[in-house]
Parts: sequence; C-alpha cells; structure tokens
Amino acid sequence: MPINKCSNESLSNHVDTSDEWISKRSGIKNRHFVADNETTSDMAFFAACKAIKNAQIPKNNIDLIVLATTTPDNTFPSTATLVQKKLEISAVSFDVQAVCAGFIFALSIAKSMMSDGNYKNCLVIGADSMSKLLDWKDRSTSVLFGDGAGAVILQRYENKDGKFDDWGILSNVIHSDGQFYDLLKTNGGVSISQKTGFIQMEGKEVFKHAVEKLSSSIEEALSASNKKINELDCLVPHQANQRIILAVADRLKIDVSKVVSTVKDHGNTSAASIPLALENAISSNKIFNGNLIGLNAIGGGLSWGASIIRIGKPNIL
Ligand SMILES: CC(C)(COP(=O)(O)OP(=O)(O)OC[C@H]1O[C@@H](n2cnc3c(N)ncnc32)[C@H](O)[C@@H]1OP(=O)(O)O)[C@@H](O)C(=O)NCCC(=O)NCCS
Repeated sequence: MPINKCSNESLSNHVDTSDEWISKRSGIKNRHFVADNETTSDMAFFAACKAIKNAQIPKNNIDLIVLATTTPDNTFPSTATLVQKKLEISAVSFDVQAVCAGFIFALSIAKSMMSDGNYKNCLVIGADSMSKLLDWKDRSTSVLFGDGAGAVILQRYENKDGKFDDWGILSNVIHSDGQFYDLLKTNGGVSISQKTGFIQMEGKEVFKHAVEKLSSSIEEALSASNKKINELDCLVPHQANQRIILAVADRLKIDVSKVVSTVKDHGNTSAASIPLALENAISSNKIFNGNLIGLNAIGGGLSWGASIIRIGKPNIL
C-alpha cells in the first residue's frame, strides 16, 4: 500500500463528511493514496517483488503475468508489460479489466491458461489507483475508495499419484451483466471523452446486487468444487463495505470469525482488495498452508465471481 495514509478525519477537512458517517455506513477508517510521482505499476511492482520473495522462486521462472487494473499507467500498453520490464524478466503479460472483480477474473484466466499446459509460474496482480478516478465534490463515492496493490504466484504441478488432489484452485466462477452498466461507471473514457472521467455510483442499488451476487457466487463455486460452506476455513471477500461483508456472512451462514475484513484500513482498493486482504490474513495467522478458502468480488459491469482454493502446497513437497 502507498505510504500516504488518509484518515476519515483528514478527509473531512476537504470533503463535506465526517468520521461518524463514513464509519457507520461503510466501516472504513483509513485509506492510502499514491503520491504525485507514484503510479499503479509502482505499487504492482512492489507487490510482485513481495509475492516472488514469499514464494521463494527465482523471478526468471515466471512465464505469465496477469494484472487486474482499471487504472493503468497509460491507456496502452498494458501495465502488466511495464511490471514485466521492471522485473527484468521475459513473460507473457497482459491486463484484465473487470474493475473490483478484476482479481477473480485474473485468477480464472490464469488458471485456464496454465491448465492448457503452456505456463508453469504465473504472477497474478491486482493493482489500482482509484484516487485518480475520484470526484472530490461527490462525497457519496470519494470517501469509499483507496489505492493499493497485492499479488500472488500460481504454480502448475503434474498431479502424479494424486499428490495434488484437492489442492490449488478447485473452482472459479465469473459472471457479468451489462444491463447494470450504468450502476457503477466513470462519466468519461477514451472513446467517449478522451478523459478518464470520475466514478459515479448508484450506491443503494450496488449494495443490493453486491450482497446477492457475492453470496450466490460463493455458493456456486462451493457447489462446483463439491464443498460446503462449513468446510471453508476462511472467506476473503471483496473489501468494499463492512455492512456488505456482514450481510454476505449472514446470508451464507458462515461464522464472522472466519471472514477476513480489512476494509477499515484501506477502503475499497478495487482489484487490489482481495490480494491485500489475503496477505493480511496470512501474515496475521488467520490463514495457514492447506486451508480451504473462498474469495469473492463484485464490481462495475456489473462483473462478479468467486473462487474456492486449497491454499499453499502439500507438506510432502
Ligand atoms: C454508498 C453508501 C455507503 C451510501 O449509504 P446509504 O445508506 O445508501 O446512504 P444514502 O446514499 O442513502 O445517503 C444518505 C444520506 O447521507 C448523505 N451522504 C452521502 N455521502 C455522505 C458522506 N460521505 N458524508 C456525509 N453524508 C453523506 C446523503 O447526502 C444522504 O443525505 P440525505 O438523506 O440528506 O439526502 C452505500 O449505498 C453503499 O455502501 N453502497 C455500495 C457501495 C459499494 O460498495 N460500491 C462498490 C462495490 S464494488
């Protein structure tokens, strides 16, 4: 996450809002913003280096980079190719745009490409500088978002002798429905206005869709992997709003102690939200090697999805 931290109190110095309103409606207390000379690729590169270090693999083993972002450094080329350049490696690299659901879409694409047998080590990154899309005159959206990046490494193994039965990404489901295009979008874009525009959102409608679709996608992903909700060790939901997180937990009938919530510390960081929450859960000993975890996210489009993953590697390796 960028160093620049902004509390609700400091935000209320230039937006007509209060810590009380933001905390009560969203659970957010702080967010981080990129510095003037800091970009999405800088955060993505930092997250990538950390993921490579934690995975203990040589960076040159990475042969695929899939980066989810809505806020690329340049309109083109992809930010993924810039991260590849900064890493000084050669790897097929491209961006995925599914807004806040981007990380789930990136995982799904990466898994499909790896399953074809062509790639062995994939770096999946979620990175966004949402502050660049905020309209500071719109208090209903500007208080909800922050900047950040997170990354994971996926590795492909031959499942000889069933060593990897029930390991890795067990299921992925992704959905999109353009009939809800206008609920959450920017009011500009390359082909509309040659400007990026600002975020506009119908908050109440998005809230209802979020609770319903985040819940249904986890149920669908559980069913696709023949798992039950009570088998999950942990649920890492999209970090947009604490009220959404709690409503989803309630619907799914999962104990809130199993649900990771970091939204208070970084607000909605879009594609970075899940990998940031995942990193927090691992480093604070909430998720261990071999745990069964669920991920879910929703964003503009609307686009949404979920994954069920047995995380880590069998100890026999
Ligand atoms: C945005 C959200 C927090 C707003 O909460 P809400 O309870 O629906 O609030 P409303 O929009 O009805 O606004 C209620 C009042 O608060 C005011 N308000 C809005 N933003 C405010 C702010 N930042 N500070 C103070 N007051 C604010 C409104 O003007 C309104 O005032 P009024 O009643 O006098 O008209 C909520 O709809 C939400 O979380 N939606 C989902 C957002 C999301 O997570 N999107 C990303 C998904 S990827």
